[in-house]
Amino acid sequence: MTKTKVFVCGICGRMGTVISQMVKANPNLELAGGIDIAAGEAHGVKVVTTKDLAAFIDEVHPDVMIDFTVAAATMQNAKIAAAKGVNLVIGTTGFADEQEAELKEAVKNVAVVKTGNFSMGVNIFWELVREAAKRLGDYDIEVIEAHHRNKKDAPSGTAKTILRILEEETGKTEEMYGRCGMTERKDEIGVHVIRGGDVVGDHTVQFHQNYETISLTHRAYDRSVFARGAVKAAEWTASAKPGMYTMKEVLGL
Ligand SMILES: NC(=O)c1ccc[n+]([C@@H]2O[C@H](COP(=O)([O-])OP(=O)(O)OC[C@H]3O[C@@H](n4cnc5c(N)ncnc54)[C@H](O)[C@@H]3O)[C@@H](O)[C@H]2O)c1
Repeated sequence: MTKTKVFVCGICGRMGTVISQMVKANPNLELAGGIDIAAGEAHGVKVVTTKDLAAFIDEVHPDVMIDFTVAAATMQNAKIAAAKGVNLVIGTTGFADEQEAELKEAVKNVAVVKTGNFSMGVNIFWELVREAAKRLGDYDIEVIEAHHRNKKDAPSGTAKTILRILEEETGKTEEMYGRCGMTERKDEIGVHVIRGGDVVGDHTVQFHQNYETISLTHRAYDRSVFARGAVKAAEWTASAKPGMYTMKEVLGL
């Protein structure tokens, strides 16, 4: 059986490390190398930087790139990989709307699985939020997320997806980020971001009305929940046609 060759962009990072270990433990996959900001070796494979990426792909012929870096890095590396016909699994968050549009256009020749959260639980949580929002559109809605102190972007990609779902289902388009001073609650969705310690990822959506609150929470205790989804997505791309996908298609939700 031929193994799917995977290389990991951001291989030295928190997610890159867990993903590399999982790829190595998966009999259907081969860890073929990595990219990071410094060249060298990690997890027993060669690591190159962006300037040597095209040559690396020509030499190693990887099937798929798993990317967990920062938006600016993804914009460069994903374009190079897609131009060489390498499928993409993108977990990086914090893209500006223009970057999202540019990326979508640049990588349409390959299969791309891109989501702000690869955990199966969160993908089901999003469905639950959608169901609740359908019925509770006239409630006061607040979104709260917490992550570790090193997370760069805010709000999280997962919270942005929650906000998109709430907007689609309730028509509420206005968001209020934190509250300070004289604030009068109108029909906005409140968004609250907490950063500290080693919190892996907490998301809560509250629906308030007089005398009652419904609260939905997802809490990730370990990065392996995201890594498992990303690795599953990488396997899935081997038989996927070019196009943009999310975990909905990968998990068959
Ligand atoms: N979609 C999901 O399920 C999910 C889950 C967790 C984290 N994330 C996102 O993944 C990203 C990475 O998270 P992390 O906690 O692993 O961060 P991290 O800072 O630990 O790792 C990022 C890695 O990318 C490397 N990097 C930076 N610029 C690069 C470049 N130009 N080329 C190659 N490598 C480069 C860094 O050196 C680092 O090793 C963030 O955007 C985070 O929000 C997504």
